[in-house]
Amino acid sequence: MPALRVFPDEQSGAVYAAAVMDRVMQARRSPVFGLATGSTQIPLYRQLVRMHRQGLSFATVTTINLDEYVGLSTQSPGSFSAYMERNFFRHVDIPPGARHLPQGDAPDLAAECLRYDALLSTHRLDLQLLGIGINGHIGFNEPSTSLSLKTHVVALQDETILRNSSDFPDGSNVPRQAITVGLQSIFAARTILLLAFGRDKAEAVAESVCGQVRTSCPASLLQLHPRVTYVLDAAAAGRLPDAGRLLALEEAAW
Ligand code: GLP
Repeated sequence: MPALRVFPDEQSGAVYAAAVMDRVMQARRSPVFGLATGSTQIPLYRQLVRMHRQGLSFATVTTINLDEYVGLSTQSPGSFSAYMERNFFRHVDIPPGARHLPQGDAPDLAAECLRYDALLSTHRLDLQLLGIGINGHIGFNEPSTSLSLKTHVVALQDETILRNSSDFPDGSNVPRQAITVGLQSIFAARTILLLAFGRDKAEAVAESVCGQVRTSCPASLLQLHPRVTYVLDAAAAGRLPDAGRLLALEEAAW
């Protein structure tokens, strides 16, 4: 069963997650972080940028992102590459050569997936950050009858496309495919932090924590990993049987 930390709001959850990352950075000479995108991660990146301005250096960090939309270049504003640049990379001192994302506009997507797996095989993730889709996806590993272990091209589900459409306000087409790492590299991470904030994540959180382990809820597989912590706000924890007690514990500790 994953560890659960329930905070009064997303800001205090983000402060906690950033402190965990800081601890990893202090403990390891060349820390490797698996990074995620999505609105959930923004308060965390803001907090990390704040810590950088107060003196925390990321100069020895390597980052490997989970996913990228197929067909988008790094310059495209809706790409995860642009998101990372806007929200994190341009504000901190991670060397450009140590920041990795799948290349969404690679001419040969199969070769790009192999390249990414080769990269992951030489960089053990100290910590993997995750969000969760309302359908229980992690990275872009969508619910299915079977799940891929390796980096692969995935056809996004309609509800995912609909939800992501807010990142493409200019009317450009929302990508229907993505490159995502598979479950193998997520599972190879020493530690996993899954962040979820807001009431619309409550169902997916409860299903993945308390439901049966099944491919139709990819996040439920995290029950099999030995070091997973869910970082939640009260709303996202709302459907967990123990939410009230967990929140009280956290408030007492702060
Ligand atoms: C995105 C990403 C996931 C992310 C999830 C939730 O599409 N591929 O890595 O965790 O969907 O996004 P959000 O945080 O915006 O709700």
